[in-house]
Amino acid sequence: MSEVVAAPLIELRNISVSFRGASGVIRAVDDVSLVLGRGETLGLAGESGAGKSSILKAMLRLVDVDSGEVRFDGQDVTRASGRVLRPIRRRMQAVFQQPETTLNPRMRAGTSVAEPLRAHFGAAAVTQGRIAALFEQVGLHPDLADRYPHELSGGECQRVAVARALAVGPELLMLDEPTSGLDLLAQRELVQLLQNLRRDRGLAWLCVGHDLTTLRQLCDRVAVLHAGRVVEIGPASKVLQRPRHPYARALVASLPVPDPTRRTVISPLAGDPPDPGALPKGCAFHPRCPHAQDRCRNDRPLLVPLPGDDAHQVACLRSQELEG
Ligand SMILES: Nc1ncnc2c1ncn2[C@@H]1O[C@H](COP(=O)(O)OP(=O)(O)OP(=O)(O)O)[C@@H](O)[C@H]1O
Ligand SMILES: [Mg+2]
Repeated sequence: MSEVVAAPLIELRNISVSFRGASGVIRAVDDVSLVLGRGETLGLAGESGAGKSSILKAMLRLVDVDSGEVRFDGQDVTRASGRVLRPIRRRMQAVFQQPETTLNPRMRAGTSVAEPLRAHFGAAAVTQGRIAALFEQVGLHPDLADRYPHELSGGECQRVAVARALAVGPELLMLDEPTSGLDLLAQRELVQLLQNLRRDRGLAWLCVGHDLTTLRQLCDRVAVLHAGRVVEIGPASKVLQRPRHPYARALVASLPVPDPTRRTVISPLAGDPPDPGALPKGCAFHPRCPHAQDRCRNDRPLLVPLPGDDAHQVACLRSQELEG
C-alpha cells in the first residue's frame, strides 16, 4: 500500500491556453506549472497581457486549456463534467477586477451576495441574518444590502464582491487586482480584511496585482509572468526585493514602491511587450534584455532553482553570471 499523501489544494501542470484573435492564434499561457497548498498565498505579477487573468480563468475552467491539467484537491478540473465541477466551483471563488462593473448593476448588493448561496444550497439557505452576517464580516453595515452598485463606493463594491465570494465557504479565492481603483485607505482596509480572513479561516488565495506593495502584503510567494510564462518564482520578500530575472528586475524597478528610506526611482520598462501572436525564438524577453547574448536568441530558458535555494527559481540562461 502506498502512503496517503494529501493532494495540494490546487495544482497547474504544464498548462497552455490560446485564443483565436483577428491576427491568428494568441498564446496567452505557455506551459505554466504552479502549486498552491491549503492556506497558502501566491501572487502573480507581470505587465498587461502577460497572461495573469487567463491563468485564473483556466483554474476556474472559464476557458479551456490546450494542454496540461488543473487539479483541485486531486481532481482534474480540465476535463471534469458539470456535475463534478459544481462542488469544486463552490470551493474556489473569484473576485474579479472592478466589481463596480462585475456586480450586476440591476441587483441590490444583498441579492448579489445571496445569489451564490441560493445556487449552491437552495433558497432555504438565504436568510436575512446570514446576509447581514456576511456584510458584517467584510466590514459593511448590513443596511447597505439594499443599495445598488452605483449607490456604493468602489471600496464598498469590492467588499460586496468579497462577501459574495465568501458566502459559500470557499477554501481558495482568486483575486484579480483586488485593490485596483481603490484609494490608499480602502486598499489598506481590504488587505487587512483579507489577512483576517486568512487567519480565521485558513483561506488560500491566488492574487493578481500590478501593485507590488499589495502583493507583498498579501502573498507569501510571488510568480513573475512574462509572455505567458513564469520567469521567476519564490518567496515574495526575495522576488520583490531582490529579483534575479532581468525582466523581473525591470518590472520591480518600474513600479513605485512607497518606501521612505529609499528614493523612489520610476524607470519605465523600456520597449513593448512581445506580440503574443508572434513570440520571438529563444527567451521571449531577449529583444528588450540588456544582457541578451546569442544563446538567449536561440535557447529557451527553463525555470531552475537558484543554487542552494530550491524555493526561488529563475528562467534565465545567464542568471548565475548576473548574480548580485
Ligand atoms: N477572450 C480572448 N480572446 C482573444 N484574446 C484574448 C482573450 N483573453 C485574453 N486574450 C489575450 O491573451 C493575452 C493574455 O491576456 P490576459 O487577460 O490573461 O492578460 P493579463 O496579464 O491579465 O493582463 P492585464 O494586466 O491587462 O489584465 C493578451 O494578449 C490578451 O489580448
Ligand atoms: Mg488581467
